[in-house]
Amino acid sequence: MKHEKVCDLNSTAATASVPWIDTKHLLAHQTPDLPMFLYAASSLIQTSRSLQLAFPGEVSYAVKANPKKAILETLWRSGIGSFDVASINEIKLVRSLFPDARLHFNNPVKSDVDIERACCAYGVRSFVVDDFVGLNSLIPYLSPDTEITVRFKLEHDRAAYDFGSKFGATPDQAIPLLMLAKKHGARCSLTFHPGSQCSEPAVYKRYIQESAVIAKQARISLEQLNVGGGFPVSYENYAVLAVREFFKTIYQTVAQCFPDNAPKLLCEPGRALVAPCTSLLTRVLHVRESGEVFINDGVYGGLQEQSIMPIQTPIRLWRNGVQLEQDGEPVTVFGPTCDPVDKLLSTYRLCADIKVGDYVEFGLMGAYGSATTTGFNGFEPAEYVSVERGLDRLE
Ligand SMILES: Cc1ncc(COP(=O)(O)O)c(C=O)c1O
Repeated sequence: MKHEKVCDLNSTAATASVPWIDTKHLLAHQTPDLPMFLYAASSLIQTSRSLQLAFPGEVSYAVKANPKKAILETLWRSGIGSFDVASINEIKLVRSLFPDARLHFNNPVKSDVDIERACCAYGVRSFVVDDFVGLNSLIPYLSPDTEITVRFKLEHDRAAYDFGSKFGATPDQAIPLLMLAKKHGARCSLTFHPGSQCSEPAVYKRYIQESAVIAKQARISLEQLNVGGGFPVSYENYAVLAVREFFKTIYQTVAQCFPDNAPKLLCEPGRALVAPCTSLLTRVLHVRESGEVFINDGVYGGLQEQSIMPIQTPIRLWRNGVQLEQDGEPVTVFGPTCDPVDKLLSTYRLCADIKVGDYVEFGLMGAYGSATTTGFNGFEPAEYVSVERGLDRLE
């Protein structure tokens, strides 16, 4: 279900503050010495609309992927009215922007103080738990409109991140959790997260099949099945299916496993929704004789994920406002800090004569880029600049 605010996608509000047509236009007028995120609201609207059209249920946004106000406002305008929030500050932020938003406090680990504030100060009525400690903390706040969603895990499979090592009840543990939530009058749902950048629709299939088994054994008709996030994007070194193929599998499996009492479906993507709308424009600081390249942002800045996952984003290279060929051998790329871990896990093919002052633009940087930046070593997090057309649009 989409929120009722009219989504005027032709509204000039989406582009009113856009000063640059694209990266080329920006670099024809400026030679930025600091890294910058180039954000294309038009791209975000397109991604958001197509995911909402393709998903057979409600699309909620995982705020942690990118809590920038401009991103949240564009998502809201595109029809997203539901948000997965992980902390009181995310709750506060979303409530302040959209008082009517549906909020799901889906971090399984929450302090008692945060539960009290979420319920009493911010009217949150949807919570994820994965053990009895978490469920028991919520029991004093349960009312007939409270939704308790039990998160369960299966063995880690085909995802870049293993979330099961930190969160999720086993299927055996999920059954009594659901039964206790039901006994206290809550609306009962299940959820799972197959891990970010999950490459196989079959992983969602296994989780949905197991959800049906858990619900049957708990003798509970599920209110909702939240199939999590984890939908992948096309990094250069990850061959992935289109997200709509994942949605097709989800829809078919739910129809097979819940023939008479299909729960409402919800998904909560972060990466797949917001990665494509933003690139990170960095500048070459230093090139060693050995070919290693130092740029002005790194793993303590917008490229943090590239110290954890060997992803290779699409890139573009620029010199004097002109795009260069990627005709060099793969080289090691370092960030600007004094820490040797400030190094991208993947090597990148730049141009053969890469020089100080050239620009390296990394695409697919809208998720877990600015959200995790630090000011380590005094390097300030990159600012956002709006462009009409982003790196995801081929020129
Ligand atoms: C509970 C929950 N939902 C959704 C997401 C979003 O995942 P992704 O960005 O892989 O879609 C996360 C990511 O950490 C999460 O923890």
